[in-house]
Amino acid sequence: MITVGSVGLDNDFIAGLFSRERAEPAGLERLAQMVGSGEVDLVAIGRALLVDPAWAEKLRDGRTGELLPFTPDALKILH
Ligand SMILES: Cc1cc2nc3c(=O)[nH]c(=O)nc-3n(C[C@H](O)[C@H](O)[C@H](O)COP(=O)(O)O)c2cc1C
Repeated sequence: MITVGSVGLDNDFIAGLFSRERAEPAGLERLAQMVGSGEVDLVAIGRALLVDPAWAEKLRDGRTGELLPFTPDALKILH
């Protein structure tokens, strides 16, 4: 089972992309529970990675304070 949608962000895909709302980094405790319990096998990341290619490395290293918010302007950036 793969999960997707608002992983690491505090609003949903529709609000974030089409309403131009800013999505702030969000906690991953619930996600960690789901992976740890075997409820999901894989986690797909969309906007959080689009705005911040170093997202996974920052999480791995505990640098959560450095995670970037998502705004639709992120789609104009080619990393
Ligand atoms: C710029 C962009 C393009 C997307 N294009 C598609 C697409 O063509 N087909 C699709 O099924 N989902 C598409 N999605 C949705 C993502 O696959 C994902 O379901 C959605 O972004 C929710 O995950 P997130 O909250 O981590 O961003 C797109 C998302 C973004 C941000």
